[in-house]
Parts: sequence; structure tokens; C-alpha cells
Amino acid sequence: MKVTVVGAGNVGATCADVLAYREIANEVVLVDIKEGFAEGKALDIWQKAPINLYDTRTVGVTNDYSKTAGSDVVVITSGLPRKPGMTRDDLISTNAGIVTSVTENIVKHSPDAIIIVVSNPLDVMTYAAHITSKLPRTRVMGMAGILDTARYRAFLAEALNVSPKDIQAVLMGGHGDTMVPLPRYTTVGGIPVTELIDKETLDAIVDRTKNGGGELVKLMGTSAWYAPGSAAAQMVEAIVRDQRRVFPVCVKLEGEYGIDGVYLGVPVILGKNGIERIIELDLNEDEKQLLETSRGHVKEVMDALDNINASKA
Ligand code: LMR
Repeated sequence: MKVTVVGAGNVGATCADVLAYREIANEVVLVDIKEGFAEGKALDIWQKAPINLYDTRTVGVTNDYSKTAGSDVVVITSGLPRKPGMTRDDLISTNAGIVTSVTENIVKHSPDAIIIVVSNPLDVMTYAAHITSKLPRTRVMGMAGILDTARYRAFLAEALNVSPKDIQAVLMGGHGDTMVPLPRYTTVGGIPVTELIDKETLDAIVDRTKNGGGELVKLMGTSAWYAPGSAAAQMVEAIVRDQRRVFPVCVKLEGEYGIDGVYLGVPVILGKNGIERIIELDLNEDEKQLLETSRGHVKEVMDALDNINASKA
């Protein structure tokens, strides 16, 4: 299996590293526009192979998409990360141009690839990649739900003093403050979380999760990378190993949850064909309302992208 990761910054390099050391692909191609940057990162990962004992070949290239030809999966991490005080949406005009041109290059050389978008604003960059690639919606998806649920699960594990491995959760909506964590679908070793934690603590964890990316931007002056890169690698693994894992993933909705034409995180089954199935939960009225708020926000940013594209046409 061949996997390309576009963008050799912190997120892309972390993703490539996880793909290599966990031997998720036979070959990982890392691409960047900065001369020598991807080559250096790929070489460093390859030189770690005798220490960490893996044989995935890692190759770095400067903007040479011919080397990505025949990729089974492509992860797009290109674009600017945010700085303190910025929202993800503030990145739209710069990152949309980058994601669009990267996607054009990808599909030219790997027309059968499955594309995973990581660039922000996530839901709208997934939209940009989807309309550019013209691939079926099951083959173009965004990584956010695994990251957001991981944060939620980590905070819960800390509060309950249990292993994060035992926390199962699902979260829906856009990758932003309007995301919809679902305590009703959160369990700890099979026990509903509400039986183990008081409402006030749970509400505080839900809030912290919604602002999880921003908390890290404030601490580090730039966006996170270990969890986002690992989350993208986990999606690649589910696809290349046809694991049929159930994850929240950003995809274009076409009637599911009563929503049409908007890109939102929903639970799906991920396997060799990409999104094998979208799972429709029976949401209660409060949850439906939260999802509707999230839909409205993502749609506004999609409209902003449409306006940017129209002004260029
Ligand atoms: C994250 O959630 O860590 C990413 O979307 C990056 C960011 O700026 O928050």
C-alpha cells in the first residue's frame, strides 16, 4: 500500500511517522513546497527504522507529485496553522487555494486515491477537496471527529482516573466551537458515563473539548500536531487494512440527519472503499438542535468559500 502525506509540517510529519513505525503502509511519500523539507523529514523517519524496527519506506519530495502516483490514500495537511486569537475559519482564503491546488495534483497522479483532509477550516476544506477532485463523497473525507473524541475521552479518563482505552464516545457536527459531543452515547467500559460523573463536571469536559484545539494554540502559539497526525493515521489504517472501524468523520451529507449538501462530522464505517456506510443515530430534540446550529455555522463558511471562488472566476 502506498500513502502520500501532503505537507511535511508538524501534523504531516507526525502522520507520516505513525504510518511508518506502525507499518500501516509499505511506502509513505511526504510532499512539501519548501525545498528539501519533506526530503529531510522523510530521511529522518527512515533513519529511525533500525531503532524502532519497521520497514516502511519513507520518501520525501519537493512539490513533485509524479512521485505520489498510484497512491491508495492521500492525507492533505497543507496550509497555515492558526495563531493565538485566530479561529479556524480565519484560515479559509489562504488554505482553500492551497487545498484546491494540492487536490488537483493528487487526482492527476492518483485518480483512484481516497483523500483525507486535515487542513482547516476542516469541514470547508473537505468541501473544497471534494468539489475539486470530483470523486464520490465516500472517497473524500475530513479528519476531525477522531481528534475531538480523543480529546473528550482523554479529559474523561483524567477526571475518572481510568484508562482512556475504556472510554467509548461519539461526537458529531463541525470541527469548531459548535461541535456536538454526545454524552448519551458515551460509555466507560460499557457503563453510561452519566452513572459515573456529575453533570457539572461532564458539562465542563464537553466545553473543554469544544475548545480543545484553541487551548493548545494558546499554550504553544500554534496548532496541535501529535493527536491530529495520529488521528489521520488511524483513518488511513482503517482504510488500508479494511478494518471497518466506526469513527466520526466529516463527509458531505445527502439527506442523512435531514441535512443536504453540507459537510459535517457523523459516525461512519471506514473500510477499503473509504466511507462504507454513514450511521444515522436517533438523536433527541436537544441533540438535533445542536447539530442544526453546527450545520448552520459550517454552511455559512461554505458560502464564504463559494464567494471567494466566484470572485476569482
Ligand atoms: C486542532 O483541533 O487541533 C486543529 O484543528 C488545529 C487547530 O488550530 O485547532
